[in-house]
Amino acid sequence: MCGIVGYLGNRQATEVLVEGLSKLEYRGYDSAGVAINIGEELSVRKFKGRLQVLADDLTAKPINGGLGIGHTRWATHGEPSDVNSHPHFNKEKTIAVVHNGIIENYLELREELQKEGYVFLSQTDTEVVAHLVDKFYEGNLLEAVYKATEKLRGAYALGVVCKDNNNELVAVRKDSPLIVGVGEDENFIASDIPAILKYTRDVIFLENDEYVHMQGPKVTILDENKNVVEKKINEINWDIEAASKGGYDCFMTKEMYEQPKGVEDTLMRRLDEKGRIKLDDIKITKEDLEKINKVYIVACGTAYHAGLVGKYAIEKFAKIPVIADIASEFRYSDPFVDENTLIIIVSQSGETADTLAALRDAKAKGARVLSITNVVGSSIARESDDIFYTWAGPEIAVASTKAYTTQLTAFYMIALNLAMTKGSISDEEYFASIEELRKIPAQVEKVLECNELVGQIAEEIKEANDIFYLGRGVDYSLAMEGALKIKEISYVHAEAFAAGELKHGSIALIDKGTPVVAIATQGKLFEKMVSNMQEVRARGARVIAITQEGNTEVEKSADRVIYIPKVDDMFASITAVVPMQLLAYHASNIRGLDVDKPRNLAKSVTVE
Ligand code: F6R
Repeated sequence: MCGIVGYLGNRQATEVLVEGLSKLEYRGYDSAGVAINIGEELSVRKFKGRLQVLADDLTAKPINGGLGIGHTRWATHGEPSDVNSHPHFNKEKTIAVVHNGIIENYLELREELQKEGYVFLSQTDTEVVAHLVDKFYEGNLLEAVYKATEKLRGAYALGVVCKDNNNELVAVRKDSPLIVGVGEDENFIASDIPAILKYTRDVIFLENDEYVHMQGPKVTILDENKNVVEKKINEINWDIEAASKGGYDCFMTKEMYEQPKGVEDTLMRRLDEKGRIKLDDIKITKEDLEKINKVYIVACGTAYHAGLVGKYAIEKFAKIPVIADIASEFRYSDPFVDENTLIIIVSQSGETADTLAALRDAKAKGARVLSITNVVGSSIARESDDIFYTWAGPEIAVASTKAYTTQLTAFYMIALNLAMTKGSISDEEYFASIEELRKIPAQVEKVLECNELVGQIAEEIKEANDIFYLGRGVDYSLAMEGALKIKEISYVHAEAFAAGELKHGSIALIDKGTPVVAIATQGKLFEKMVSNMQEVRARGARVIAITQEGNTEVEKSADRVIYIPKVDDMFASITAVVPMQLLAYHASNIRGLDVDKPRNLAKSVTVE
């Protein structure tokens, strides 16, 4: 993970780097550092802790210089500490490196370098890069970086500066995200667009094995054979506001409240004048569909949970068997994937290492790859045959909310689209379903009104050490998402159970006062869910039910009921998840935790 920024221009580099890093803290936030060329010398400052520690130090003791690299870290090799923080440098501190990714052969390289007399200060994999560049440096930084990267195995986005030239920055991308920001007489590198958006909207997306050579105001992109590559400059049309808190107490709140818009944008911009779904970036024809005999949905975490709901939608509408799998399992199993398989990859960031690897494995086996992602130009988007971009806007909080609800929207649309193409749905059902989907943004808006009630519920259960989430069918997938949300930001143990499975063992965990969130949105399973609520309540559980308006019967079996507006059962997932997101938020807040930046986590998991 980690976030990197680099700057070469006429501003004070530290200002640009700290500003940029503040937009990348979602990628990691256990330490931060910068290296600035101060003319014939590099000044390196790096500290364990949040970016603010570095920012305060730089305010107290400014460093002047227009060339620098910066880093915000999510520890992989070596604990968070000042010494393990980036930038890393060679013995003489004449070359400094920031890195995002993992150098897989670093132990081997470290040993080799140690034999040659190099001394290592940190436990990181990155330090080998600094020493390798030193080893190959003979006055030409670009050449030295080429030679160093020849030795590396793994994933890396690197930014490198040298004390000898305060007008030169070298960077390279391999399997870790990196973009170039092009300004007037100034240029930038960054792990993600928000880092540079304050300064420029002109962005170059780098491919793997592309090198960046900045010399003064000039920036050149080269391929692995040192040929100059002509790159398109893309204009970013979304605003920095979209990536800042905009008056909310934290990004998670802002993003939960952006869900009506996210769902609406994702849906409405893809309906044509006749009200039909039009997916321009999905080119699957009827003939293609005739060949496809199964679908795999592959993703991690919340995106995987969206995939579980997607399975229901595709099987129901398009009548194709679907297997949903976790990317880190899929890639090391022996899945039945061939040219008759459609792989649907789901990833908010479009950069998740396991998901990307699964995509590549599936492609190598001949499968067609359709991706659902939120980040335009991300690796997953670029390597897919068909793309569905969720229009959630940038998601910064580590806990995913609007990405999830827009992924669900995407799945419903894809399922209906495949069904129409295949002819497995009647016009009547198709248009009625779209009509139901159109109602969802307003309904999400309405569900958000339960915030106060959910806040009270969070208060009532604040002493709980365990919370259980129950559901049947598609509600079981939602239960998994609810449990994940609360675990990751409130650190309360939570587990999701298929409600019918409870009595086969896990019900033994229910004790007096144990909170149980019971999701009951599916009409045909409603009575069964009510029985399950009674079962746990009889054993002392405190039941919090989530169900559709009108299901008042549930009140007899629950301590608290959160109603979501009436909608076709199939689409209730988008609204039913919202109270669980709010519950996680309140649980975290009550405990005084950092809602947006939970411990041990980072937003974008670009390491395996
Ligand atoms: C949880 C969460 C994670 C991500 C997972 C995949 O709130 O955000 O579980 O869903 O790390 O990330 P993407 O979607 O970027 O591939």
